[in-house]
Amino acid sequence: MSLFSDALVDALAQASTVAVLTGAGASAESGIATFRDPDGLWEQFSPQELANVEAFLDNPTLVQGWYRYRQEAIEEAEPNAGHRALARLEALVPEFACITQNVDNLHQDAGTERVIELHGNIIRSYCIECGASHQLDAEVADADEPVRCDECGGLIRPDVVWFGERLPRDAIEAAQDWARAADVFLAVGTSAVVFPAADLPVIALDHGAYVADVNPDTSAVSGKAHEHVQAPAGEALPRLVEAVAERMQARSAS
Ligand code: OAD
Repeated sequence: MSLFSDALVDALAQASTVAVLTGAGASAESGIATFRDPDGLWEQFSPQELANVEAFLDNPTLVQGWYRYRQEAIEEAEPNAGHRALARLEALVPEFACITQNVDNLHQDAGTERVIELHGNIIRSYCIECGASHQLDAEVADADEPVRCDECGGLIRPDVVWFGERLPRDAIEAAQDWARAADVFLAVGTSAVVFPAADLPVIALDHGAYVADVNPDTSAVSGKAHEHVQAPAGEALPRLVEAVAERMQARSAS
């Protein structure tokens, strides 16, 4: 039996605008732990301890060290077949945006051009006092003292959205515009429980998009979507995008 319906292939092959929302599951097959699955990062470390601004100000060395550790894992990771399939889909359809909750840069590494980062990017860091860009370098992990800005002495933090912080306004507004405009909206590898990202598939549904959830398990979107493609992204997306390319080719030949 096919993993996905003919209706989804048709909708993608005919779409003017496609928007995709990705979550940690999109990077799972690149070896990056998700947040809420049993072996997820949040099971090993307390988010209250590490991913909020108060914790950072209380113990910047610990938080910088943890982020450097996560950066290293991410630097070693490669895009998987799912990331590459989305880059191929972007090249096939007229208008495309990949809205991601991930901070790992793997969509860009796979060649996707329009990536909207809702939760920032772990590769970047900046000074909390003067805003200057900085790198958290390899020594951080063993340091006793926190890394500070060369210019003003302020603490350096990763450019990611922490609990209790607002999403970058430009990014969430652009994402909502894409959700409203989309003919097809794919949710890929997200539990869809963290707002405001979790609203995006609902906005797309309300505006008439065909919505599919690509997730081996059930997410908060699965029941609302037109279709649940119940398989890992690295398996489902290459097959789906190949079927779309074939459908487009057949259409242009006829
Ligand atoms: P979660 O860890 O909450 O959810 C990951 C989802 O991926 C689950 O629904 C899994 O079933 C699914 N999954 C696992 N392997 C998969 C695979 N190979 N292919 C497809 N799906 C797979 O991660 P997010 O939904 O991204 O926010 O979490 C959202 C936000 O919560 C994160 O961005 C982070 C966290 O708090 C911030 O850090 C601001």
